[in-house]
Amino acid sequence: MPASSVRIAPSLLSADFARLADDIAMLEAGGADWLHVDVMDGVFVPNLTFGVKVIETCRRLTRLPLDVHLMVVEPEKYFEPFAKAGADVLTIHVEAAPHLHRQVGRIKELGCRAGATLNPSTPVGALEEVAADLDLLLVMSVNPGFGGQAFIGRSVAKIAKARALLDATGSRAVLEVDGGISRDTITACWRAGADTFVAGNAIFAAADPAAEIAALRARCADVA
Ligand code: DX5
Ligand code: ZN
Repeated sequence: MPASSVRIAPSLLSADFARLADDIAMLEAGGADWLHVDVMDGVFVPNLTFGVKVIETCRRLTRLPLDVHLMVVEPEKYFEPFAKAGADVLTIHVEAAPHLHRQVGRIKELGCRAGATLNPSTPVGALEEVAADLDLLLVMSVNPGFGGQAFIGRSVAKIAKARALLDATGSRAVLEVDGGISRDTITACWRAGADTFVAGNAIFAAADPAAEIAALRARCADVA
């Protein structure tokens, strides 16, 4: 996989919301490929974050694709408002989507790219029957809910399994990883077959967040 296909998707969860416009402009100037927007409902995960209004605001502030990660129960309630608000990718959790095939189809009907994601305890096989229909497969490398958590080491083997599933089913889906991505963890994920990397704490806690985007990308280019 060429290094040019690496996507870095900074997570706005770690942004300064008093300076959201400045932070988004900084990420864009720093070479971010996508913006990752974590929507949490306080039910599926023990935290609350953003709704439609914030997605609309982000849409006005950038042309970067908005990669919306729905950590909510009954995600289908939000597909239409989030699509209208300007989401480009809508990713739902397998654990909250008993009718995943239908939900993936509905996201595509609304003109968005459809993603499905797996909590750390959910096996890759849960996506076997829909892999060919997905635009994005997200492997969670922390238990979702908070930024700044430690990367779960077993996620590397899981990414390799997800890559094998996508290849076996002829799926062209993006393979994304989310949680604890840093200079120390990104290379192993890239080697295992991930191409898209969410990073919150690693970018926003860095002295120079824009330079950190380049540094993360370089950790993949080094091994390409
Ligand atoms: C966690 C979120 C992540 C989070 C990643 O539930 O889905 O997107 O922002 O943050 P870091 O990179 O700090 O682990
Ligand atoms: Zn996320």
